[in-house]
Amino acid sequence: MESASAVIAQAPGALPVLGHLAAFLRTPLAFLRGLPAHGPLVEIRLGRQRVVVVCDPEFTRTMLVHDRIFDKGGPLYERLREAGGQGLASCPAHEHRRQRRLIQPAFHHARFPGYARVMGERMQVLLGGWHDGQTVDLTTETRRIAADVVISAIFGTGLDPALHTRLATDFHTLLAGFTRHSLTPKRLRALPTPANVRYEQATRRVRRTMAGLTARYRAQAEAEAEAQARAEARPGAKAGETNLLSLLISARDPESDAPALTDDELVDQAVTMYSAGTETTAGAVCWSLFLAARHPEVRDRLTAETDAVLGGRTASWQDLPQLTYTRQVFTEAIRMYPPGWFLTRGTEADTRLGPYAIPRGTTVAYSPYLISHLPTLYPDPERFDPDRWAPGDKRPEVPVTVFGGGARKCVGDEFALVEGVLMLASLLGRWHIELHADSLSLPRLPQLTLNPGRMRATVRSRVPAGSP
Ligand code: HEM
Repeated sequence: MESASAVIAQAPGALPVLGHLAAFLRTPLAFLRGLPAHGPLVEIRLGRQRVVVVCDPEFTRTMLVHDRIFDKGGPLYERLREAGGQGLASCPAHEHRRQRRLIQPAFHHARFPGYARVMGERMQVLLGGWHDGQTVDLTTETRRIAADVVISAIFGTGLDPALHTRLATDFHTLLAGFTRHSLTPKRLRALPTPANVRYEQATRRVRRTMAGLTARYRAQAEAEAEAQARAEARPGAKAGETNLLSLLISARDPESDAPALTDDELVDQAVTMYSAGTETTAGAVCWSLFLAARHPEVRDRLTAETDAVLGGRTASWQDLPQLTYTRQVFTEAIRMYPPGWFLTRGTEADTRLGPYAIPRGTTVAYSPYLISHLPTLYPDPERFDPDRWAPGDKRPEVPVTVFGGGARKCVGDEFALVEGVLMLASLLGRWHIELHADSLSLPRLPQLTLNPGRMRATVRSRVPAGSP
């Protein structure tokens, strides 16, 4: 016989019609931090949408592990599918294993020295383009580097600058409008307001541009394969550069030997990787820079490390084992401001979390931000303390749930950690950052990722002119 179930607490303060939507939009982080006081599971109302927020780390883990029951769904993923189609991050569980098997090899450890080289090259170009005393918006600059790096990982080579700028602009519009769009009722989303029109146009343009690139790449890959087949007998013939798209293009269905992914599915994966891999890492680097600038003792330890290890040059794969404090700072920054901060699921069957019954069709959310601020896991959670991650400590290497968990755990976690540490070290080794007094403008509405809206700073060179 089913045991009786405990009652899921309702968050207090719901307004008629809006529920908790106003509080969620106005002060989302404070709102989330307040929820665990009401219970391990708390129901909130975002307009008419009821959402059960999981406030307990163990229940969060259970939910993530049972990804066929707690499947990708809810307003967040419904909207993500509009832009990213059925790519790896948004596809349902029954489609997920096949996609993950195809994509996982692109994130095999053996590929990282190559990715780190591309990261170093792009950082060298972009950071080397700054001049002493220049005012920069660190949000824009780090996003540009991360976008460049992800595009290189997907397409193998840089795009021509005009195309790159257009893609970056459209992605920005798309991601910036995303959360607002996902919380707006369908009939209001259909109204031709300037924001809705911009969002729709950006979505369409991104997919069109990506489709063009994918087709071009497929033709190129086929031509290269033919050329390689002709050259096969020649000793020393060089294998073509591999990257995510070339891996996916060459993947075959084991039964039919047909291409494993259609052109449309390739576009979905490219859009997914670009969205998942750009603002996340860039935001994390920005928060690291912000926190370091606000804590001079941390900044001094960081620059002592980068000076000793790098001596002003761009960081490389070989430097990573020595950049331990840089990694601690980056890790603490993603604990305090986890880029993926509020993620939804939809239950595919009646289920339970501990004593709580959860009917099929419930929207459930977990929040890496909320979990990362539980004092039971991280004493004095508002304190920025990179020494929480000192080597030798028994805790996990990264904050719990910041990269998700179970089968849907972030496929790019290692990529992000490598890129974040390399970018942070290269930047601080070479430039002193003076944040402007009005440097930080938090985005007015919560966005898909928890990024600072703008972060203005003056950069001063820390290395003598002419250094590499
Ligand atoms: C600091 C940087 C990053 C953070 C904090 C982060 C966080 C996350 C989280 C929390 C999820 C799980 C989402 C959910 O449970 O609904 C996820 C999934 C994912 N991430 Fe990341 N991510 C980061 C960087 C990246 C990068 C650099 C890439 C790609 C190059 C990437 C690609 C993906 C993909 C494709 C998924 C879906 C995985 C699947 O469902 O199998 N992420 N990420």
